[in-house]
Amino acid sequence: MPNPDRLPLVSSSLPQRGNETISETSGAADPILIALSYHQQTKHHLHRYARSLGYLDWDSQPDPFRTFEGAIRLELPLAADSLTTPFADLYTPVAVPVRSLDLKNIAILFELALGLSAWKEFRGNRWALRCNPSSGNLHPTEGYAILPPLPHFEAGVYHYVSRDHCLERRCLLEGGAAAELARALPPDSFLVGLSSIHWREAWKYGERAFRYCQHDAGHALATVRYAAAALGWSALLLDSLSDDGVAAMLGLDRAADFADVDAQDREHPDGLVLVSAKPVASPPRILPVESVRAGQWTGRANPLSSSHVSWDVIDEVAKATWKPVTNGPGRADNTPSPPLSSPCRTPAATLIRQRRSCLALDGRTTIPAEAFYRVLDHLLPRPGVPPWDTLSWSPQLHAGIFVHRVAGLAPGLYLLERDPRIHDRLRAALRPEFLWEQPADCPEHLRLFYLMQGDLRRIAQIVSCHQEIAADGAFSLGMIAEFSHTIKQKGAWWYRRLFWEAGVLGQVLYLEAEAAGVRSTGIGCYFDDAFHELLGLTGNEFQDLYHFTVGGPVEDHRLMTLPAHAHLHRMSTA
Ligand SMILES: Cc1cc2nc3c(=O)[nH]c(=O)nc-3n(C[C@H](O)[C@H](O)[C@H](O)COP(=O)(O)O)c2cc1C
Repeated sequence: MPNPDRLPLVSSSLPQRGNETISETSGAADPILIALSYHQQTKHHLHRYARSLGYLDWDSQPDPFRTFEGAIRLELPLAADSLTTPFADLYTPVAVPVRSLDLKNIAILFELALGLSAWKEFRGNRWALRCNPSSGNLHPTEGYAILPPLPHFEAGVYHYVSRDHCLERRCLLEGGAAAELARALPPDSFLVGLSSIHWREAWKYGERAFRYCQHDAGHALATVRYAAAALGWSALLLDSLSDDGVAAMLGLDRAADFADVDAQDREHPDGLVLVSAKPVASPPRILPVESVRAGQWTGRANPLSSSHVSWDVIDEVAKATWKPVTNGPGRADNTPSPPLSSPCRTPAATLIRQRRSCLALDGRTTIPAEAFYRVLDHLLPRPGVPPWDTLSWSPQLHAGIFVHRVAGLAPGLYLLERDPRIHDRLRAALRPEFLWEQPADCPEHLRLFYLMQGDLRRIAQIVSCHQEIAADGAFSLGMIAEFSHTIKQKGAWWYRRLFWEAGVLGQVLYLEAEAAGVRSTGIGCYFDDAFHELLGLTGNEFQDLYHFTVGGPVEDHRLMTLPAHAHLHRMSTA
């Protein structure tokens, strides 16, 4: 067994595609090579971080709120307090009463998915937190609703402004176009659209920012799914659409509407999610793109920054991973697991809004093994169970877990396989001296393996960019993706989807930690190859895509917390 204190933590690899070594500039025309090369180029190393400006240019700090000047605004009620669905019931969808598709419930969906959760204030600076977390709280993700004719809503495309909890009507669809949209969507359903403004993350994080935008999009997919579940609704990522199609449906390709802004303030399409209050027999594969294009569009996007720094590598990878039309939705072919149980009767709407990242963990809190296993169990997909039923693919990510303080479990390194089919490949790729023992009291279906004994707090902290939160939690982890094989087989656009899956995993960890009475924090800053080296991974068959930590939080009492919507002077609707 390796001695944790002796493990080398020095990374050495050159960019690779499978077993080939490539230079950072080669393969300019091959989207797969560009995606692999971007990933390699944007690794943080022990001796060098991925390229960024190296300081924060406060003068060009991007506005975290996009608005469309001139678009008609529809104020949404603040109604999430009225939703009493217990968090535990989200995992047993039949237990949740199905709410009607109306103004109040659509407002709740946006409030819980993308809405503000609080304001923080320190020394005269104030910033908003949202139900969807974001790397650096920079919030690259924008949200949209595409609605058929509904009470209080004319058919059209709406942009959500979290600060004002309102929908801006970007496009009005009338007559035949409205009817066409209504026909294209299953009964009692509408679409939520997501897009990313890469510049918001690049302003702080430089070249690595594209990764964070994808993490954040994944988190947002999950927050949409959880919010829909609290209303008794389903939510499915529409997989077959191309990014061109998504851009057209959301009006992102309307050059005139973005004429006042720098190219970097523009939005990149992520996806459309079908949200439905009725079971969906077959999700739409074709949307009335041309009718939407021809709708009555209003609104001009606001500039986000006075000046910009250009990161060509982000534009290149964004282009290379642009999604074509495909044959989706696929069907996740998951190994059955027993039904989930959760003791958390707190209303989902409360839990979702109280979720916070912890800036520090106490280094003391021990969690019971039962709670640890329950959190991990929620990372396994089950048919019809949120949030995994929003994705149409089987798990591509697994987890290497540093257990620090879990009652009854030896501290050390563990591995969670989220799909048993990966076992042989993963075992062959990891250090041969690992133990591969299942903990005695671990539920049988949970493929958790004890790999290595030891106090790994120091190593966990080092591989997470020296951040103490990775050592001070009850456990922390790195998400290991089936990387090069997936991208080569399925296409460069899968590079983004792997990060989305990591984001969904992260959102489950955030909410399950909260449900277990502890807290969690996403960790996008980690030393990729140092973690690979610890596990014995070489090449890029598997890659570490995201870290997380879970434990007892330490509040920072210097920060003042203010209510999310007091500035709106709008009554809460019960
Ligand atoms: C993709 C991603 C990466 C993050 N990386 C880190 C990190 O490396 N270190 C850290 O302390 N927090 C990290 N965070 C936490 C964010 O700073 C936090 O989500 C943000 O400040 C908003 O606060 P909230 O989560 O309490 O709403 C990350 C969050 C996300 C979503």
